Amino acid sequence: MSVKVENLSVAYRMRAGDCCPVDGVTFTVADGEIMGLAGESGCGKSTLGNSLIFMEGRMRHLGGRVVVDGQVLPIADFRAMRPYRMTKVSLVPQYAMNALNPTRRISKLTTDLLDSHGVRVGEVLEEMKRRIRLIGLDEDVLNKYSFELSGGMRQRVTIILSTLLNPSLLIADEVTSALDVSTQRAVGEMLIEFRNHGFVKSIIAITHDLSILAQIADSILIMYAGRLAEKASAADIVNAPLHPYTQMLLASLPEVGVRHDKTTLTGIPGRPPSLVNPPRGCRFADRCPFARAKCAEPPPFKEVRPGHQPEAVRSGDPVRHPRPVARQLRERPHGHPAPRRDCGNGRHGKSVR
Ligand SMILES: Nc1ncnc2c1ncn2[C@@H]1O[C@H](COP(=O)(O)OP(=O)(O)O)[C@@H](O)[C@H]1O
Ligand code: SF4
Ligand SMILES: [Mg+2]
Repeated sequence: MSVKVENLSVAYRMRAGDCCPVDGVTFTVADGEIMGLAGESGCGKSTLGNSLIFMEGRMRHLGGRVVVDGQVLPIADFRAMRPYRMTKVSLVPQYAMNALNPTRRISKLTTDLLDSHGVRVGEVLEEMKRRIRLIGLDEDVLNKYSFELSGGMRQRVTIILSTLLNPSLLIADEVTSALDVSTQRAVGEMLIEFRNHGFVKSIIAITHDLSILAQIADSILIMYAGRLAEKASAADIVNAPLHPYTQMLLASLPEVGVRHDKTTLTGIPGRPPSLVNPPRGCRFADRCPFARAKCAEPPPFKEVRPGHQPEAVRSGDPVRHPRPVARQLRERPHGHPAPRRDCGNGRHGKSVR
C-alpha cells in the first residue's frame, strides 16, 4: 500500500478557536491509483492536500499520521519534512501556474527549485526535456518566461517540475480548474501518462469538478465539512453513490443541451456548517432530506461493498440500488430534492422534515 492516511486532524489557529478543516480523516491510496478528492469549496480539500507535505504558518497538526511506502512522514515538523518533499511527496498547489516567477526563464526556475533540494540541474535536464517532448510540448519552453506560455502550458510545466524526482505521491490541487475543456483533457491525460510511465506512483487529484474526475480517476473520495463522506471507485461514485451529499452533488451538475426553462438545477440548499465548533453528529444533517433523529449522533464510516465506504451506513444494513438516487433527484422538475423511496442503506431513508 503506497499511501496511508490514518485519523489525520489538522486545524488553523484562529481568534474564535481552532478551525478544523481536516477532522479524523482516514484513507489509503494504492500504488498506481489516481484518487480524486472532491467536495464543495471550503470543505478542506486543499488543507488536507497541503498537510501531507507542508504545514504552513497557522496550520497545526492535531493528530494522526501519514505513511508513505511504509515510512511515517514527520508532517508536523517543517524541517524534518524537507528530504521527503519532491522525492516522496510532491504538491502542485492550487493556483501554482499563476505563481511562477515572471522574471525568470523556466530553465532558471528549474535550477532554483532543484538547488533547493540539493540536486544539480545537469543530473535531470535530459530527462526533463524527454518529459516535455512526451507531452507534446517543444523543449524550447525552457527558454521562455512564464508569461509567454498559455495557462495549459504553464500548468503542464508545473506538473513536470513537481514530478522530476519521481515522487511516490503527487498531490495535484485544482490543476484543471480555470482551463478550457480541451486543455483540461490534456492535463488530465498527462497525469494518467505520468502515472503509467512510473514518474509518480500514486496521485491525489483535488478538484470540485466531478466530471473531470469521472474521466481520469480510479477512485473518488468525497469530503464534506472536514470529514470524509464517501470513498469508492469512480464508477460507483458516479453511478451508484450512497451518501446523500454525493447524490446531491451529482444532481447539481448541469447537463449539456438541457435548457434552464425545461428543468431547474437543483443545487444543494443551505450551507456547510462552521468548522469552528461544528455539530457533533452528522455534519450534513442541516441540508440532508433524509435526516432523522439519530443523525444527531456521529455517523460511522463502514465498508458496505468491497472498496465502497460511505459515512453513515450502519454495519449490516442491506444496500439496494433499484435506481441511482442521483438520477431521481436530477429528474425532479422543480424545487429541492426529496426522497421518493428508501435508498436502502439504513439512515439514508425517510425524511423527518
Ligand atoms: N490559511 C488559512 N488560515 C485560516 N483558515 C483557513 C486557511 N486556509 C483555509 N482556511 C479555512 O479552512 C477551510 C477549508 O479551506 P480549504 O482547505 O482551502 O478548502 P477547499 O480546498 O475544499 O476549498 C476554509 O473554509 C477556511 O475557513
Ligand atoms: S441520513 Fe443522516 S447521517 Fe446520513 S447524510 Fe443524512 S443526516 Fe447524515
Ligand atoms: Mg482548495
